[in-house]
Amino acid sequence: MKSSKKIILTGDRPTGRLHLGHFVGSLRNRLELQNKKDYDEMYVMIADAQALTDNADNPEKIRENIIEVALDYLSIGLDPEKITIFIQSQVPALTELTFYYSNLVTVSRLQRNPTVKNEIKLRNFEANIPVGFFNYPISQAADITAFQANIVPVGEDQLPMIEQAREIVRSFNRIYKDVLIEPKAILPTNKNALRLPGIDGNAKMSKSLGNGIYLADTKEEVKRKVMSMYTDPNHVHVEDPGNVENNPVFTYLEVFASDKDFRKYLPQYQNLEELKIHYQKGGLGDVTIKKFLLQIIENILEPIRLRRAMYEQQIENVYDILKIGSKKANIRANETLRLVKEAMAINYFEDEDLIQKHIKKYNQKEKDSNE
Ligand code: TRP
Repeated sequence: MKSSKKIILTGDRPTGRLHLGHFVGSLRNRLELQNKKDYDEMYVMIADAQALTDNADNPEKIRENIIEVALDYLSIGLDPEKITIFIQSQVPALTELTFYYSNLVTVSRLQRNPTVKNEIKLRNFEANIPVGFFNYPISQAADITAFQANIVPVGEDQLPMIEQAREIVRSFNRIYKDVLIEPKAILPTNKNALRLPGIDGNAKMSKSLGNGIYLADTKEEVKRKVMSMYTDPNHVHVEDPGNVENNPVFTYLEVFASDKDFRKYLPQYQNLEELKIHYQKGGLGDVTIKKFLLQIIENILEPIRLRRAMYEQQIENVYDILKIGSKKANIRANETLRLVKEAMAINYFEDEDLIQKHIKKYNQKEKDSNE
């Protein structure tokens, strides 16, 4: 029987520490889901095996970042008492499922995946795509279906992965037996949060561009970064009219500033609209808006930083959390693997009928040859 439970699964590749872009794009959403408790099971996976698909020559990087991501998770308030945090490579059923699912997907279908296409370009892989990397949407389908997850909170760029997973589920259920659950993606609700630009104005905050504000950054680092943010390059003097479009300070304020923040820190404005109008007219300096933004970001990061400092003092405990989580994840994924193998009829030793059938077949043969 397929369960009708509400099961949430999501994860991150441990290729670096998590930044504000991750926070608004997915982490905040996860935290809300966790605390709403409107689910039966929730899994958050550190996708080290996926990270290795394009870091085969650098396992050390992945190894070092598992603990960083775990600390980031715990520091934002993900709670191992409520949810299961685990490491992908420690759940072997996921690789087994990937192998069987890959029979259901064509090469041309994988080639059409826009996210993978884009990533291949970014990595200059065009002529030398590792098979594992090319395959990772299939492995991601395994991650999701292994837990019978029906809800997958992700960023926009992951939608093609969820679609691929849905197709695999439909093929599997049609060809073998109706055992897998079709997942649904849920995206962050604030449309400005879909992608937070870098502090340099680049459309994407990313480690390789060095333009991120990290959850683990010190107060001084955050201050330095915010105060050096790119704004409107033509807004040279305070009295110059300024542009709020493509101005990351305003994009961040869209995401983070509430009317309450205005009442508290900039009471001369009711809301962001008024601030924008003043900026566009001229007479509002970048330092004022940056200080305001800094205050708001610090209100978010300060408690995260404190919680991180606490967990940093108990690393052994953090590894235990991951170990216990991985154990739980194995139990769940193995159940699904059993169902999958049964549906595919590759469960030979559990299949008493098969054995009986073959006993009969060869008994018959024996009889026939005696007649
Ligand atoms: N591809 C995701 C990322 O890069 C990580 C991931 C791996 C994932 N498996 C997943 C996300 C399953 C959601 C569900 O961030």
